[in-house]
Amino acid sequence: MASQVLRRSLSTASTQSTLKIGLIPADGIGREVIPAARQVLEALKSGPQFEFVDLDAGFEYFQKTGTSLPQKTIDTLKSECHGALFGAVSSPSHKVAGYSSPIVALRKHLDLYANVRPVKSVESPAFPSQKLLDMLIIRENTECLYIKSEREEVDPKTGLRVAWADRKITEFASRRIGDMAFRMALTRQKLRSEIPVANRFWKHNPKVTIVHKSNVLSVTDGLWRETVRGTQLPGVDMEEQLVDSMVYRMFREPEAFDVVVAPNLYGDILSDGAAALVGSLGVVPSANVGDNFVMGEPVHGSAPDIAGKGIANPIASIRSAGMLLEHMGYTSQALKIYEAVDQVLADATVLTPDLGGKSSTQDVTDAVLKNL
Ligand code: NAI
Ligand code: MG
Repeated sequence: MASQVLRRSLSTASTQSTLKIGLIPADGIGREVIPAARQVLEALKSGPQFEFVDLDAGFEYFQKTGTSLPQKTIDTLKSECHGALFGAVSSPSHKVAGYSSPIVALRKHLDLYANVRPVKSVESPAFPSQKLLDMLIIRENTECLYIKSEREEVDPKTGLRVAWADRKITEFASRRIGDMAFRMALTRQKLRSEIPVANRFWKHNPKVTIVHKSNVLSVTDGLWRETVRGTQLPGVDMEEQLVDSMVYRMFREPEAFDVVVAPNLYGDILSDGAAALVGSLGVVPSANVGDNFVMGEPVHGSAPDIAGKGIANPIASIRSAGMLLEHMGYTSQALKIYEAVDQVLADATVLTPDLGGKSSTQDVTDAVLKNL
């Protein structure tokens, strides 16, 4: 089963004394926040040594070379690296001939089938009215509408253009993501019982919420729903929520969710939305997880509106570096990073403008480094 393979490969990684990590900052603020995450990994006083390798990808790289993801990046990740950190890519909203998103391609090349996105509150005077939540959104990462099978034709009757997109849901992918969601609900419970600060705002039995829209898409979301339901583990509660009312409930009562599992597109949208509940997209991390590889990646994009100003919040990327370690089996080092970040948020004296502060990317990074 996927979970066993994952555990095996990750425990192998945790016995390495030097980890080779591929850094792919790509575009925009990716170039500002990935170096911040690197500084934090380098400053860890215990655990593995790191060797970093800088790798190319992105829209700017495409404009220079005609490719957004050079083969060398894929080969180096596959043959030399234990894990990676990805920044963000500036994919244009219109079609550009020959261009496709390197992050979507990387997830496929490395079979990173789960995008694990924790969204958690930190009690802080900076966010006095926030609800206290600690949920984990698990987004299926390989299929759904993101297979990008699109075409356009002209309707012979009207002479107007018609665009189509295929949506793919497989029993295989739905089963392995469901399996991961239920397993993670149990892991979170175990962590909570051992470490008092870990996901402590969830006070109930472990629970998985399955998101779908099978009242309308009864074939694709029907298969998703049925398959994920079949992966339930003993000791974990299960509920279902239609994606539209999921958005409503998530904003009304975010504290009602533990693990949320969703197909690719719904998971993408829900996790950006959830970021608004904890202050900013700039604090929400993710890990792209497969059976043999992990790639940390902030949830946010390349933020062209603030790129180059030195004010991007590095916390999402720093937490993503923590997730990289956590999913490679270095739990105590990951927790050190999480705690150092939480302390910066709780102190609320060094914050970037997205959280209402005046500090720079480097100021916040320095504050995290100090807490380490
Ligand atoms: P975005 O996430 O880049 O920005 C949305 C808003 O959040 C902006 O106001 C931005 O300033 C703010 N923001 C995001 N990250 C922040 C941070 N670390 N610190 C402070 N503020 C932050 O999303 P948007 O504007 O929709 O997309 C911009 C570009 O990013 C597009 O080209 C899009 O294709 C790309 N993108 C790339 C992703 C990836 O590489 N995985 C994911 C999402 C978008
Ligand atoms: Mg997104």
